[in-house]
Amino acid sequence: MEIIKDIKGFPKDFMWGAAISAKQAEGADDRGITVADIQDYNPNLERTKVRGDLEKAEIMERLENPDKFFFPKKLGIEFYHTYKEDLLLLKGMGLQAFRMSISWSRIFPNGDDEVPNEKGLQFYDDVFDLLQELDMIPIVTIYHDDMPVNLALKYNGFLNRNMIDIFEKFALTVLERYKSKVKYWIILNQINLTRIGLSSLGIVRDTVEKLDECKLQGVHHKFIACARIIEKARKINPEFQFGSMLADFTVVPYTCKPEDVIMAMEKNQLTQYFYTDVQFRGEYPGYVWKYFRDNHFDIKMEEGDLELLKANTMDFLAISYYNSSAVSADKNTMAIGDVTKNPYLEDNPWGWTVNPSGLYHCFSNYWDRYQKPLMIAENGYGQIEELNEENTVHDDYRIEYYREHIKAIRICIEHGIRVFAYCPWSPIDMVSSGTSEMAKRYGFIYVDQDDWGKGSHKRYVKDSYYWYKKVIETNGEDLKS
Ligand code: BG6
Repeated sequence: MEIIKDIKGFPKDFMWGAAISAKQAEGADDRGITVADIQDYNPNLERTKVRGDLEKAEIMERLENPDKFFFPKKLGIEFYHTYKEDLLLLKGMGLQAFRMSISWSRIFPNGDDEVPNEKGLQFYDDVFDLLQELDMIPIVTIYHDDMPVNLALKYNGFLNRNMIDIFEKFALTVLERYKSKVKYWIILNQINLTRIGLSSLGIVRDTVEKLDECKLQGVHHKFIACARIIEKARKINPEFQFGSMLADFTVVPYTCKPEDVIMAMEKNQLTQYFYTDVQFRGEYPGYVWKYFRDNHFDIKMEEGDLELLKANTMDFLAISYYNSSAVSADKNTMAIGDVTKNPYLEDNPWGWTVNPSGLYHCFSNYWDRYQKPLMIAENGYGQIEELNEENTVHDDYRIEYYREHIKAIRICIEHGIRVFAYCPWSPIDMVSSGTSEMAKRYGFIYVDQDDWGKGSHKRYVKDSYYWYKKVIETNGEDLKS
C-alpha cells in the first residue's frame, strides 16, 4: 500500500500526455461511414447551443445526397495520413502518453461484418509501433462516439441487445491484436454523455417511443458489454488496466436554499455517479431503481446480468473535465444539461465556463467515493484563433487555463488523491465534436484549415507548445510563462 504521508508535487511516474479521437482527427479514407461523419458544418449555428440528434430522414438525406453538405469529420485533420509527422511534433514537446481512439469502422466498416479489415488493424499497429519508438505510452479508447452508421440504422445501436455481441467482437479483436502494445484501455468515451443519443448510443430518436427509457436501456447494454469484455480480456492479458470514463457534470447548488442543495446532489447522482457506481461498485444504486420506478421505466435485464456486473468492475476512473455549472430548483429540471451558469465564472465563446478549482472539487468527490486511481482524460480550452505574421499564435489564455488546472491537480495529489495522468484536449487543432467547426481550436499546434476544410493543412506550433514542453520537462514544477 502506497504511503501518502508527505506528498509534494507530482509523482515521478506521473504521465504527461494529450488526447485526440479518431472521429475528429483521422478522416474517412479506407473506412466505413459513421454517425459522426454525417454531422455537417453549419455556419448559422448558435455556438452556445448543443446540436440535437438527427432524425431518420435527415440521416438518409445525408447518406443519399452527400454533395449537398460539408462533413468536416470525414476530413478530420487527415491524421490517418499525417500521423507520423504529427506524432514527431508531439514528441518534440516531450509528450509521455498519448490518448487516442480506434475507429470502429476502420476495423469493421459496417460494424457487423464477419471479418475485420486487415488494413485498418495494420494502421493501428503502425501507430502503436511508432508510439513505442517515441517512448509515448498509448491510452486507447475503444469507442469514441463514432459508431458505423449501419449499426444505428439496422439495430438502433445499443438499444438492441445484439449490439453487446457486435461491440464485444470489435473490442476483443483489438484487445487481442494489441495485447502486447497497449496496457491502458478506456472502453467507452464518456459513458454518461447520453444527451446526444445518436453518437453515444446509436439510437435514431424518431424511430423509438419513450426515448429516455430507450437511452437507459442502451446504457444497460453498454454496462453488460463492458463487463463481458473485461471478463474475457483479463484472460488475454492480466496486465490490462480498464478505465471507466465520465464527462464531469458535477453541479453545485445555485444558492444554499435546501431545494437547490438537494437538486444538485440528485443531479450529480443521476448524471454521473450512477455510471461509476455500476462500473466500480458493480451494482445499480438504490436511487436509480427509484428513478426507474418513478418514471415507469422498464429496463430489460437478463438473468445473470447483475452478477456479471458485480464480478467485472473497472480499474481506474478517467474524467474529461472542461467546465462546471450550477442548478437551481426554481429554474432547472432534472434533464441532463438543464443547468444554470455559475455567475462567478468567466466563459469562452461557446459558453464553457472556466473553473480550475472545480477539478479539485470533483476529483475529491470521486476519490472519496471509489478510492480508484484517476486520470484526466480530457481538459482544454477552445478559442477562435488566427496565425499571426510570425506564423504562430500567442495563446496566453490557454497557458493560463492549463496552469490553473495543473495547480488544481497538484492540490489533489497533495491531498492524497491518486491522479496518475494528465491528457489535455487536444495537442493539435481538430474538428469540434459538438459543432463540427475547425474554429473551436484547442491545440498546442495550429492546423491551417478552416471550417470548410480549406487551407494549406500545415502545422504550426503555438506558444503553449513550448510552455507545456517545459511543464513536462520539470514534472509540473515550472508553470511560468
Ligand atoms: C469531449 C469529447 O466531450 O469534449 C471530445 O470527448 C470533444 O470528443 C470535447 O472534442 C470538446 O468538445 P468540442 O465540442 O468542443 O469538440
